[in-house]
Amino acid sequence: MRAPGPPDQFSPYDAATQPAALVPDYKETLTRNPARALIARPATLTEITGPTHLARKLPTGMRDLSRKNPDGPRAMGQHILVRGRLLDEDGLPVRGSVIELWHANAAGRYLHPMDAQSPAPLDDNFLGSGRVLTDQEGRYEFVTVKPGAYPVPNHAERWWRPPHIHISVFGEGFMSRLVTQMFFPGDPLNEVDLILNAVPDAKGRARMVARQTAMMDMPVLNMVGYEHDIVVRGERSTPFEKPHA
Ligand SMILES: [Fe+2]
Repeated sequence: MRAPGPPDQFSPYDAATQPAALVPDYKETLTRNPARALIARPATLTEITGPTHLARKLPTGMRDLSRKNPDGPRAMGQHILVRGRLLDEDGLPVRGSVIELWHANAAGRYLHPMDAQSPAPLDDNFLGSGRVLTDQEGRYEFVTVKPGAYPVPNHAERWWRPPHIHISVFGEGFMSRLVTQMFFPGDPLNEVDLILNAVPDAKGRARMVARQTAMMDMPVLNMVGYEHDIVVRGERSTPFEKPHA
């Protein structure tokens, strides 16, 4: 694997494959994005390389969000298995990376105080978040339920988020982090989602949509499988997340 280095040594991505800074109708982009050009700050070895060994500081192994203990009842909804590879700009595996994920339950409600106003029900068996480690091939895998769609609060346009999974990936050091969202193929709400469509380029949007796999390939037959590779940098990098809902 290539040694850690400053971001400007990697092939740049086309800006159209990443979210636009300002999105009409998505008013949070006005308040959560800088109005002026950023000031470039050179990254030193301290920021590039450390702190390292994040897996020692962040417990991993929470790969099944669909139940609170191995013998307990499962959460409601369609059980799914999501797996993929974490790759660098050359298609090489990013090993030992901490991947965190969180999403709404099958009814479209988050297990979070900020979602307390939601009329959708909680699910006592749903964990809501997980954290896994990539293996030597850069692979990750987790079991969960397919999240439900939910309306974005305080939006006059009645904007509904399509089912999606929030994913955070750490690189070699704590300052190397990509936060993105994974979408499900074929959902009609994908076409009108302001966050997915904040990425102007169709190729960029496609990098945020998982691929459904043959169900016979699943370890448990009642799970639907999804493959989703994440590229952390370079011209094929997965779009990062703008202020999320
Ligand atoms: Fe969300």
